[in-house]
Amino acid sequence: MRESPGRPRAVHCAAVLNLASTTTQQWADRAVAHIDDVLLDHAHCEKKAAGAALRMLFRYPEHGFLQEPISKLAREELGHFERMLRVLEARGVAYVRQKPSAYGGKLHNLLRTSEPDRLLDLLIVSALIEARSCERFRLLSETLEDAELAALYADLLASEARHHQLYIELAEQIESPSQVRVRLLELARDEARIVEAPSSRVRLHSC
Ligand SMILES: [Fe+2]
Ligand SMILES: [Fe+2]
Repeated sequence: MRESPGRPRAVHCAAVLNLASTTTQQWADRAVAHIDDVLLDHAHCEKKAAGAALRMLFRYPEHGFLQEPISKLAREELGHFERMLRVLEARGVAYVRQKPSAYGGKLHNLLRTSEPDRLLDLLIVSALIEARSCERFRLLSETLEDAELAALYADLLASEARHHQLYIELAEQIESPSQVRVRLLELARDEARIVEAPSSRVRLHSC
C-alpha cells in the first residue's frame, strides 16, 4: 500500500463483504493507468445503481419493508452520480455513452425467475455488486497517487459497505438468515467467476 502524508486510511471492509475472491493489485494498477475510463464507467455505474433500486420499488410495491430503505439508497446513488459528474467535469472528461463491462448483464442472468426466489436473488446480487465496488474502491484509494481521487474513493467505499449490508438485511426478510447464507455463497462463487473473465475494457467490474 502506498502511504503518503495526509492520505486518508481506507476502511478495511473485506471481512464483512462475503466475496469469494480478492481483486489483485494488478487490476488496480491497470485501472489507475486508465483512470479516466474508470471514472466515466464509475459515473455510469452510480446511475445504474440508482436505476436498479428504482426498478425494484416499481416491481415490488407489495413489499412495504423495501420501500423507504431502497428509496433512500436510490437517492444516495444519484448523489454519487452527481459527484462523479463533477469529477469528470473538473478533469475535462466528457460524460458520454461508454461500452460497459459484461458484469451486470451476466449477474442478472443468474436470477431465478419465480418469486420469491427472484427477489431474493436480486437482493443478494445487488449486495455482491456493492461488495465488489467497496473492495475495489479501497484498492483504488490505496493505489491512486492523486490525493483528491484517493480521498474520494476512501469516502465512497463506506457507503458501498453500508449498501451491501442493507441488501443482505432485506434478503433476510424474505428467507431465513441461514437460507440467505447458502444462496449468498452460491452467487458469490458465480460473481467471482464473472468478475475474473478476461476483458479488453478497463472498467470498475472488469478483470
Ligand atoms: Fe454508490
Ligand atoms: Fe451503492
